[in-house]
Amino acid sequence: MSSAVVDALRRLVAWFYALVFPSSASTSPFSETTITSPDGKGRATFIGLGATLVEMWVPDANGTMRDVVLGYDDRGMYLDDPAHPVFGAIVGRYAGRISNGTFTLDGKSYSLHQNDGTSTLHGGALGWDRRPWKHLSSSSSSVTYEIVDDAWEGFPGVVTARATYELLDGPELVITVRASGTEKTPIMVTNHTYWNLDAALASEPQTTVHDHVVQIRASRRLEVSGLHVPTGSHLPVENTVWDFRTPHSIGEQERWETLLATGANGYNENWVYDDAEDDTEPRFTIHSPRTGITLGIHTNQPSVVMYTAGYLSGVPRKHGREGECYGPSSGLAVEQQGRVDAVNHPEWGEKVVYDKSEEMVWRTRCRFSVQSPPS
Ligand SMILES: *[C@@H]1O[C@H](CO)[C@@H](O)[C@H](O)[C@H]1NC(C)=O
Ligand SMILES: *[C@@H]1O[C@H](CO)[C@@H](O)[C@H](O)[C@H]1NC(C)=O
Ligand SMILES: *[C@@H]1O[C@H](CO)[C@@H](O)[C@H](O)[C@H]1NC(C)=O
Repeated sequence: MSSAVVDALRRLVAWFYALVFPSSASTSPFSETTITSPDGKGRATFIGLGATLVEMWVPDANGTMRDVVLGYDDRGMYLDDPAHPVFGAIVGRYAGRISNGTFTLDGKSYSLHQNDGTSTLHGGALGWDRRPWKHLSSSSSSVTYEIVDDAWEGFPGVVTARATYELLDGPELVITVRASGTEKTPIMVTNHTYWNLDAALASEPQTTVHDHVVQIRASRRLEVSGLHVPTGSHLPVENTVWDFRTPHSIGEQERWETLLATGANGYNENWVYDDAEDDTEPRFTIHSPRTGITLGIHTNQPSVVMYTAGYLSGVPRKHGREGECYGPSSGLAVEQQGRVDAVNHPEWGEKVVYDKSEEMVWRTRCRFSVQSPPS
């Protein structure tokens, strides 16, 4: 069977699983939970499917509340949109690509479903982002979801993961994922929120992120093959369009043209952070001159994938007008994670394989602030 047919069949099974057996998640995977920061400045809404952040409202420099994440008004599309941009979900059991859909543990080779050419992407045909998580508990400012991953994508053992979202004053969103398995297994999670800090209101047209100013504290990135699979080598960013150690706007003309001349349709690379131990300063900063909103991201993860949504098209825009769609560069996905395909690169010495019952902890903090746009 072709991969597309398998994918379609699995989506059908997911609908069945999500809707006919809602008891597995105790409530409908599309039920919404909204949390608010104690100071009232931030508000976020989630659904159980994928433990997905569907709306994140923060004040702009004028105090107007804006929703800074991409998503769907029709929540059912989180499950069945064939474009599957993975808006706002927790991605697992293994984020990013696994080369050739295979890895070896203690001499035993495992074969996974190859859902992206010959690679396994974001956990397989039905990763954690399209499965119902159980709503475990919530308060006015936090919510926790749980998933029990029964290994149907071909990974060893059953993995149980809990994701907690907490909104603090600022606002600041703290996301913590804890996971452990019944057998030794690779685990790598990330969340896959697409940001647009211009955050068009319903009355405004969608913008691209080209004016967003980005800073990344990384002097190296992974070299990849044509299939976005790492070769194992690192490349210095110095004097290249991937150098964001000082702030640059995404679409800065000369850099963007140089990037497109490489055949890319935008940024989609894995940067390796410098000073992996020091998390006092944000590792990744995004600023919108239009709204004055700044997002500083702190994380315990060693690397980040920044993807400017070059493949996004024809997906209906949330809060948009009838027929209005997201397109390339409508958002910026910033995925804090281990290095892509690290399970096949033990020479990097990165922790991605966890023993039975050993806990993986992934944590990311997103701090919002405003600066008045320069007048
Ligand atoms: C894995 O895929 C690459 C192409 O991406 C290929 O060159 C290589 O031979 C494959 N390795 C195995 C073990 O199949
Ligand atoms: C903020 O208010 C000023 C003055 O009314 C206006 O010119 C500007 O466009 C507003 N900014 C945003 C992001 O709405
Ligand atoms: C993960 O999602 C949360 C919820 O919006 C967001 O605040 C955070 O920045 C995301 N983290 C990354 C690394 O994208």
